[in-house]
Amino acid sequence: MGDWSQDTSLELGVFRAEGRKRIMEWDSDSEVSIGEEEDAMQICERGGFLMNDGGPVPIGIDNLLHSTPCGFVVTDALEPDQPIIYVNTVFEYVTGYKAEEILGRNCRFLQYRGPFAQRRHPLVDIVVVSEIRRCMDEGIEFQGELLNFRKDGTPLVNRLRLTPILGDDGMVTHIIGIQLFTEAKIELGPLPSPYVKEASTRYVHQSLSDPFLYRPAPIVQGHFCREICGIFQLSDEVLAQNILARLTPRDVASIGSVCKRLYQLTKNEDLWRMVCQNAWGRETTRVLESVPGAKRLGWSRLARELTTLEAAAWRKLTVGGAVEPSRCNFSACAAGNRLVIFGGEGINMTGLNDTFVLDLSAANPEWQHVKVSSPPPGRWGHTLSCLSGSSLVVFGGCNKQGLLNDVFTMDLDAQQPTWREVAGSAPPLPRTWHSSCTLDGTKLIVSGGCADSGVMLSDTFLLDLTMDKPMWREIRVSWSPPSRLGHTLTAYEGQKILMFGGLAKSGSLKLRSSDVYTIDISEEEPKWRYLTGSGMPGAANPAGIAPPPRLDHVAVSLPDGRVLIFGGSVAGLHSASQLYLLDPTEEEPTWTMLNVPGQPPRYAWGHSTCVVGGTRALVLGGQTGEEWILNDIHELSWASKLGSE
Ligand SMILES: Cc1cc2nc3c(=O)[nH]c(=O)nc-3n(C[C@H](O)[C@H](O)[C@H](O)COP(=O)(O)O)c2cc1C
Repeated sequence: MGDWSQDTSLELGVFRAEGRKRIMEWDSDSEVSIGEEEDAMQICERGGFLMNDGGPVPIGIDNLLHSTPCGFVVTDALEPDQPIIYVNTVFEYVTGYKAEEILGRNCRFLQYRGPFAQRRHPLVDIVVVSEIRRCMDEGIEFQGELLNFRKDGTPLVNRLRLTPILGDDGMVTHIIGIQLFTEAKIELGPLPSPYVKEASTRYVHQSLSDPFLYRPAPIVQGHFCREICGIFQLSDEVLAQNILARLTPRDVASIGSVCKRLYQLTKNEDLWRMVCQNAWGRETTRVLESVPGAKRLGWSRLARELTTLEAAAWRKLTVGGAVEPSRCNFSACAAGNRLVIFGGEGINMTGLNDTFVLDLSAANPEWQHVKVSSPPPGRWGHTLSCLSGSSLVVFGGCNKQGLLNDVFTMDLDAQQPTWREVAGSAPPLPRTWHSSCTLDGTKLIVSGGCADSGVMLSDTFLLDLTMDKPMWREIRVSWSPPSRLGHTLTAYEGQKILMFGGLAKSGSLKLRSSDVYTIDISEEEPKWRYLTGSGMPGAANPAGIAPPPRLDHVAVSLPDGRVLIFGGSVAGLHSASQLYLLDPTEEEPTWTMLNVPGQPPRYAWGHSTCVVGGTRALVLGGQTGEEWILNDIHELSWASKLGSE
């Protein structure tokens, strides 16, 4: 199972507050010599890092010396003015305040220069302070940087992250603060206070150029009065289930570095399962659990790999069988561990209506034609989606007779698989090259596409397939993104949808787009929001390295809500196989280009991608200009070792 303690590259104690460089938090490739490790342990023990007896905490010396352990504070949010109930030793060493001096107080004393100051120092940015206050009032996370002071008056830059912890009733019960202190390059002169002498004799040799290398004077065991630190009076069960399980995987990884007890707690696989379930939702964890090999990898390792994408790799698979007659513009999706293809455009614009399945759990996967009853009329340019389990749904498309807006469903696992038409009243206009996705494994969403006479659409419809008589519902909005076709819709965080790219209407022109819009279907009055891009009037260039505008690409959502964009028809056909990543949950989403090893597909466009088990995407078909290939499949996996079981 994934035991990070075996891993010398384990990064303990570094929590970097700069959201965009988060991937680095789990990164490290330290080389540790035995001698150095002993030294590190001595430092830890002398510093009171180890609160339990038992073996040494496996902290790489590199991490200790070159990264920076963080301050860690917990406050009781149910008491007035957020009193501190726990503070770690790193916080004590760096700030010079001892736990017993600050337990029960609000953390703002760090904004006062020294213990005798009467007010916040004028150099402390009050805009940041009021932003903290706003985040605390609204019960949301805060990340930012502000000026703080050690007890002896030395200024420090504090990169602070505050994470509210919710109780069962949704109320904030605690707030966790993680501080990354560094030297503040400002000269304020000495602090005129009797305290200076005391402080400086104790810490005089400590260099602020590396503030976490403090080697404190020997401290009597128990000096920090652990018995009064409220959080450590909680049982392991309460700590794990009520606090740790509610944090993000990244935060749990960081908190494991605070002390031996939290480290032990964060090694527990049941805790990691809860963390993953809380962070990614029940359905995602259920799907992940069903992936062959996932159990062997373990939840902690899976959480780490899915967060850092450190194990992401391309791989080429050659599969047997044949999808005949040959076709293009088919639609594909994954049903559990199987890939399914329905329909497509055969020679002479023949609309095909056959179904093929590729079982990826077979020793030698082969495309197989599935005998089904009552197939829908042949078509291409439609969408095929999988609801929960093995239930498939086809919508729209076109054939020689014209455009379609019918819906068919089929249970692939039924004894006699049969397509059944769903007579949903008030359907959307017939269309092709639209985009679809599913929500909760029960609802089909359809947006945009091309209607009669080449008219492009901008509407969004929802069909709830759990209802006895499913009804189409138009998501009525006061503003919608410009009409488009060949775009993608990706569901993330349950009920949210991200729209990317496509061929979009821009005045009288139709242009490839790289714009990103989101909508939250769970809102009473859902609204499209423009997230990033350059296509909107007055829009700034998107942050980061944005994917070039495109249509007919694929988009894949990761369990934590980040969205990967790949391929498509790009002007000049360059870079189509480059991967781009966007986190729509960030306040200012930034595109990143991912360099993933292995063999990516060279197909430029027209491919389909199916996400299998939440850990890999399989790219089918695609066109180089001359050929369509369905026996060469490219797999992008973002978890290691799963395919080999
Ligand atoms: C868990 C927690 C940790 C905090 N850590 C710090 C800190 O390290 N430095 C700091 O200047 N403020 C910190 N704060 C923020 C202050 O306590 C306070 O919320 C902020 O100054 C805004 O409130 P005020 O304007 O009423 O003082 C922390 C708050 C919480 C809840």
